[in-house]
Amino acid sequence: MSAIYMDNAATSFPKPEGVSSSMKTYMDEVGATINRSVYGAAQDAGLTTLLLREAAAKLFHFPEPATHVILTPGATASLNMVIKGLLKPGDHCIVSSMEHNAVMRPLLQLEGVSFDRIPCNAEGLLNPADVEPLIRPNTRLVIMAHGSNVCGAVQDAAAVGAICRRHGIPFVLDAAQTAGHIDIDFEGWGLSALAAPGHKGLLGPSGIGLLLLRDDFARLLDPLIAGGTGSASDSEYLPDYLPDRFESGTPNLPGIYGLEASLRFLQEQGIEKLHAHEMALCKRFLEGVKNIPGVNVCGPQGLNNRVGVISLDFVGQDNAEVAYRLETEFGILTRCGLHCAPSAHKTLGTFPRGTVRFAPGFSTTEAEVDAVLAAIAGVCQG
Ligand SMILES: Cc1ncc(COP(=O)(O)O)c(C=O)c1O
Repeated sequence: MSAIYMDNAATSFPKPEGVSSSMKTYMDEVGATINRSVYGAAQDAGLTTLLLREAAAKLFHFPEPATHVILTPGATASLNMVIKGLLKPGDHCIVSSMEHNAVMRPLLQLEGVSFDRIPCNAEGLLNPADVEPLIRPNTRLVIMAHGSNVCGAVQDAAAVGAICRRHGIPFVLDAAQTAGHIDIDFEGWGLSALAAPGHKGLLGPSGIGLLLLRDDFARLLDPLIAGGTGSASDSEYLPDYLPDRFESGTPNLPGIYGLEASLRFLQEQGIEKLHAHEMALCKRFLEGVKNIPGVNVCGPQGLNNRVGVISLDFVGQDNAEVAYRLETEFGILTRCGLHCAPSAHKTLGTFPRGTVRFAPGFSTTEAEVDAVLAAIAGVCQG
């Protein structure tokens, strides 16, 4: 029985050709770090890092120089850097009711910081008109999951961004489920920052992520980590220029080489083509599942306002047992449970039961989707 990987919302697999070989080349033939030395291998590492920053800036229509693309250990680290680097006691923050714990847990660690949740409907979608009434004089940040990791619902970031801009409030997008899936317009949507993991839709390795910072927003952030940057070594204070201010310590060079290769792949393929493939699979999946009694789709029922993250609730069955059967009897790899997003499940009405999540990827085929549908039908028959 060959496995069908349906867990791309957790992490993408397989990676495009070239990702692991680029990492291997770094490990076997380059080996040097950046910003410290000037010999050939160090220059190679420096150039690859620059190419990565430039590719990310281009991908997200980022108006700032590539220096403002900060390399982090992942989306969680990027979000912590924003939330804990910005908010102080007395501040107020606005989030959506669909947030991942990568936003909620750092926020709840901050004493004296209050927040409100923008309500979302039973499909996991917010109404931008609900944002303005939540704004208070001390609101310092609006931070929002662009795409839900539970049900794939995609929020209208442009509309929320326009409201934030009107009120002069920084707007930060958690693009963990949309980066690499949807064309994100950093400048057009008025973003102050964007957080993305390298290992999901960007198709790179785990252990590396991005934080794109608009210059005026970066000036408001206190760096969470301080240390050697290989620059301004005459001073014991952190430099005030980017990316160094937010990149203390030796970076994840194998990750940088891997992510640089995967962003090249994304650029060659084009986000639109990959998105069209994902949506075609999603359509096939949603249409097929509609005809299977005993299973409900949670979140957006159609193709509008969504990415290809599909959560199912198996009526009258234990969803964890269903996921186990899908794996052991059919070789289908899913994720079940609450997906680190309890508030999203409360919004969708699936708390504390959870759901079984299916997320096809760029290399998933129609035949694999059909096999998944047949397996779901089999599991629903008993
Ligand atoms: C919406 C959302 N935000 C943040 C994260 C955190 O990403 P990472 O675990 O790669 O740091 C995830 C990961 O599943 C996510 O789905």
